[in-house]
Amino acid sequence: MRHLLEVDDLTPTELTEIINLGRNPTITHKEVLRGKGVACYFEKPSARTRNSTEMAVVQLGGHPVYITEAEVGIDTRESAEDVTRTLACYHTAVCARVFDHSVLQRMATVDIVPVVNLLSDEAHPLQAVADVFTILDSFPPLQNDRLLLADRVITYVGDANNVARSLAIAVGLLGGEFRIAAPSDYQFNEVDLDRLASSNITVSQSDRVEDVVPGSDVIYSDTWTSMGQEAERVERLRAFEGFQVDEKLLAAAGPTAIFMHCLPAHRGEEVTDGVLDGSQSRIWVQAAHRLTSARSVLAWLHGER
Ligand code: CP
Ligand code: NVA
Repeated sequence: MRHLLEVDDLTPTELTEIINLGRNPTITHKEVLRGKGVACYFEKPSARTRNSTEMAVVQLGGHPVYITEAEVGIDTRESAEDVTRTLACYHTAVCARVFDHSVLQRMATVDIVPVVNLLSDEAHPLQAVADVFTILDSFPPLQNDRLLLADRVITYVGDANNVARSLAIAVGLLGGEFRIAAPSDYQFNEVDLDRLASSNITVSQSDRVEDVVPGSDVIYSDTWTSMGQEAERVERLRAFEGFQVDEKLLAAAGPTAIFMHCLPAHRGEEVTDGVLDGSQSRIWVQAAHRLTSARSVLAWLHGER
């Protein structure tokens, strides 16, 4: 049974298969989920993830069922394992957005239905897959049999959070270079670096944006205060002073660099309106590719190649 809790659940070859599947326009003709249900469980709010996942299921011929924490009560009404066993009676996949990543790991341990991470405090793999589609769409294709992101430099400015972690793995598995600029307390820690190293991925980290921005193909940003961290908001706003992606920072990357953000953006905090709405921004392509991502991952988990 295959699960997708983090991008490194996939080999570089498998991740490439998923990307190639998403770029194949005939994928929706096969209806690999015809007559099947997909459980979509959410502990946190969502605009892109819920809608793209539900529509991906519909386009593959299946039926999504939206479930909230209030209904199933994981570990209050029933254990995560028993909820998974129950959902597996009706559904061909369990997709879940949770606070605590270990809940997903426990669901996957049941191992009778694929579990797909729709964002946890640690990882956001479907976002990273969408981001790869966006980067590939934005630059000329590479020649020969090189890894899909070979020579591309992706620089993330902000908190080394769930989105950054999954993106670093996706970029690394596909041969790209990942850099991050963040205050030292908000960079990848030893556990993160060891996990990346286990996939032969190294990242450059700096607390000075000017060290990492020049030469970047992509400047990427996300909120400084993720869902569940609201109590730290004031402290984080202070810590991230100087890390806003503004027109000057983007100009330092160069005129061909693109700007990406998983959204929702906190306009005027981690990024300016001018960058979000400017000609180098790819944020709406990225949002649209959440559908490509969900569709290709679900189809791949159901045997499509
Ligand atoms: N990027 C993303 O996951 O957005 P939502 O939180 O709106 O799903
Ligand atoms: N890092 C953000 C991503 C939102 C899509 C969060 O976890 O809230």
